[in-house]
Amino acid sequence: MCGCLFEVFFLSPLHCTFCRSCDPKKMLVALLLLLVFGNAVEIFGEESDEQCRYKPELDPRPHSVSIVEFGAVGDGKTLNTGAFQNAIFYLNSFADKGGAQLYVPAGKWLTGSFNLTSHLTLFLEKDATILGSQDPSQWGITNQLPSYGSRTEKKRYRSLINGYSLSDVVITGNNGIIDGQGSFWWDAFVAHTLNYSRPHLVEIVDSVGVVVSNLTFLNAPSYNIHPVYCSHVLVQNISAYAPPSSPDTVGIVPDSSDHVCIENSDISMGFDAIALKSGWDEYGIAYNRSTTYVHIKEVQLQASAGSALVFGSQMSGGISNVLAQQLHINNSFTGIDFRTAIGRGGFMKNITACNVSMENVNTAFSANGQWSTHPDDKYDPSALPVVDKITIGNVIGVNITIAGNFSGIEDSPFGISLYNISLSLNAASSATWVCSNVFGSSENVYPEPCPELESSLSSSSFVSVSTQISDGLATDS
Ligand SMILES: *[C@@H]1O[C@H](CO)[C@@H](O)[C@H](O)[C@H]1NC(C)=O
Ligand SMILES: *[C@@H]1O[C@H](CO)[C@@H](O)[C@H](O)[C@H]1NC(C)=O
Ligand SMILES: *[C@@H]1O[C@H](CO)[C@@H](O)[C@H](O)[C@H]1NC(C)=O
Ligand SMILES: *[C@@H]1O[C@H](CO)[C@@H](O)[C@H](O)[C@H]1NC(C)=O
Ligand SMILES: *[C@@H]1O[C@H](CO)[C@@H](O)[C@H](O)[C@H]1NC(C)=O
Ligand SMILES: *[C@@H]1O[C@H](CO)[C@@H](O)[C@H](O)[C@H]1NC(C)=O
Ligand SMILES: *[C@@H]1O[C@H](CO)[C@@H](O)[C@H](O)[C@H]1NC(C)=O
Ligand SMILES: *[C@@H]1O[C@H](CO)[C@@H](O)[C@H](O)[C@H]1NC(C)=O
Ligand SMILES: *[C@@H]1O[C@H](CO)[C@@H](O)[C@H](O)[C@H]1NC(C)=O
Ligand SMILES: *[C@@H]1O[C@H](CO)[C@@H](O)[C@H](O)[C@H]1NC(C)=O
Ligand SMILES: *[C@@H]1O[C@H](CO)[C@@H](O)[C@H](O)[C@H]1NC(C)=O
Repeated sequence: MCGCLFEVFFLSPLHCTFCRSCDPKKMLVALLLLLVFGNAVEIFGEESDEQCRYKPELDPRPHSVSIVEFGAVGDGKTLNTGAFQNAIFYLNSFADKGGAQLYVPAGKWLTGSFNLTSHLTLFLEKDATILGSQDPSQWGITNQLPSYGSRTEKKRYRSLINGYSLSDVVITGNNGIIDGQGSFWWDAFVAHTLNYSRPHLVEIVDSVGVVVSNLTFLNAPSYNIHPVYCSHVLVQNISAYAPPSSPDTVGIVPDSSDHVCIENSDISMGFDAIALKSGWDEYGIAYNRSTTYVHIKEVQLQASAGSALVFGSQMSGGISNVLAQQLHINNSFTGIDFRTAIGRGGFMKNITACNVSMENVNTAFSANGQWSTHPDDKYDPSALPVVDKITIGNVIGVNITIAGNFSGIEDSPFGISLYNISLSLNAASSATWVCSNVFGSSENVYPEPCPELESSLSSSSFVSVSTQISDGLATDS
C-alpha cells in the first residue's frame, strides 16, 4: 500500500452517475471507490448528485527539492535538461521513503525531455513556466507504441515529460505553465521536414495512479496529455490551449487506459479537444487493451478543425463504459464524434454523453465508419469494428449547421440512441441529419432525426443501457 498520497486520494469517491433525467425513479448511480493499489471497486446503487466532485487533499511529500538546487536557471534561455534529469535521478532514491516533490519556482525553465519517477510530485509554482526546447536533439527519439505498430516513420520524438511503469505520480502546481513552444513543430510538420512523428507534452506509459492538475498547458507540439496503458488517471482543473490554426493539436488522449476521470477543465485545440483511443488496426487488436471506465465531467471544449469529444479513430483495443456529462462545446467543427474504419476491429460501446451545450458547431454529432487511415497495408479487411449502445441526451445546440452525420459500416451498422435534443440550425444548414448503416432510436429530438433513428423508444430501454453499464462496473475488478 502506498503510504502517502493515493490512499487518501482514491479513497475519496469517484462517482459515475447515469443521466438522471432519463428516468429519475430508476436512476442508477454507480459509485466507484478506488483503492489504487488494492484494485477495490465498490458499487452503491443510490441516487446522488455528487459526481467526480471530491476535493482531493494531496498530502505533501516528505521530501522536496527545488530545481534551482540542481543548477537550473530560469531565464528562458539556459537549457535545463540536465538539471531536470539529475534532480529526478536524485529524487528516485526517496521513492521508498514516502516519495518526494520536485519544486519549480517562478521563472522560465527551458528544457528538453526528462523522465519522471514513482512517488513523485512535480510542482510548478505560480508564474513558473516549463518551456519545451525548440532543438529536436533535446527531445530524443523513442519507439512507436506497440499498439500503434510501425508508421511510415517508425520512431517518434520523446515527449517533454515522460513516465514509464510508474506508480503514484503527480504533475500539479499553482497554475504553473507547461509551454511546448509548438510553432516550430507545427511549421516543420506542415513542411514535412520532421524525421519522426511529433512529440507530446506529457506522456505517461504503463503506470498506475497518475494525477495532472492545477496547471495550464500551452502550444503542445501534438498532444497535451497522453496516458497510455495506465490505470487510475485523474486530470483535474487544467487549461490547455493551442491556436485554432495549429495543425492536429489534441488536448487529452486517454489511450488503452482505464479508470480515468477528466473534470473541471478548459481545452481549446486546433484539432480534437478530448480523444479516447486504444490502438491502431492489427497492432491495437494484438495489444488488446481497451480504454474503459472513463468519466468526463464539467469541461469546456473547443476543437477548431476536429471534434470536441471524439472516440477513435484508433480504437482497435476497444472503448467502453464512458460517461461524459456537463460538456460545454463551442466554436468547433464537430461536437461529439465516433470515428472508425474497416480493419480496426475492436468496439465502441456503452458510451453516454449527456447534459451538453453546443454553440457555433458545424456538425453536432458524427459517427464515421470510413476513417480509413491505416498504419500500413497489413490490416485485416475482415476486422470490423462494433459500434453499439451509444446514447446521447439532454443537448441544447445553437448555431449548428448539420445536426448529425452518421455513416456506419454496411456489415457492421452502428447502434445509436438519442433523447431530449434540441438544436437550432443556422441558415447555412442544408442537411439536418445524414444517416446510413445506423440503427437505434430517438425520443424528443428536434429537428426530427432520420427514419433509421425515428422509432420511439420507451424509457425502460434507456434504463437497460444504464443497467448494463452499472453491471459492467460491478463486475470489473
Ligand atoms: C443532467 O441535468 C439535469 C438537469 O439539470 C440534472 O438533473 C441531472 O442530474 C444531470 N445528469 C447528469 C448525468 O449530468
Ligand atoms: C527515460 O526512460 C526511457 C525508457 O525507460 C529510457 O529509454 C531513457 O533513456 C530515459 N531517459 C533518461 C534521460 O533517463
Ligand atoms: C484550479 O487551479 C488553480 C491554480 O491552478 C487554483 O487556484 C484553483 O483553486 C483550482 N481550482 C480547483 C477547483 O481546484
Ligand atoms: C532530419 O534529418 C536530416 C538528415 O539527417 C537532418 O539534416 C535534419 O536536421 C533533421 N531534421 C530535424 C528536424 O531534426
Ligand atoms: C488544486 O489547487 C487547489 C487550490 O490550491 C487545491 O485545493 C487542490 O487540492 C488542488 N487539486 C489537485 C488535484 O492538485
Ligand atoms: C482481449 O482481451 C479480452 C479480455 O480483456 C479477452 O476476453 C479477449 O479474448 C481478448 N481478445 C483477443 C483477440 O485476444
Ligand atoms: C467558448 O468557450 C470558452 C470557454 O468557456 C469561452 O472562454 C469562450 O468565450 C467561448 N466562446 C464563445 C464564442 O462563446
Ligand atoms: C455560427 O457558427 C459558425 C461556425 O460553425 C461561425 O463561423 C459563425 O460565426 C457563427 N455565427 C454566429 C452568428 O455566431
Ligand atoms: C432536456 O434537456 C434540457 C437541456 O439539457 C434539460 O434542461 C431538461 O431538463 C431535459 N429534460 C428532460 C425531460 O430530461
Ligand atoms: C457525412 O459523412 C460522410 C463520411 O465522412 C461524408 O462523406 C459526407 O460528406 C458527410 N456529409 C455531410 C453532409 O457532411
Ligand atoms: C456493453 O453492452 C454490450 C451490448 O449490450 C453488452 O454485451 C456488454 O455486456 C456491456 N458491457 C459492459 C461492460 O457493461
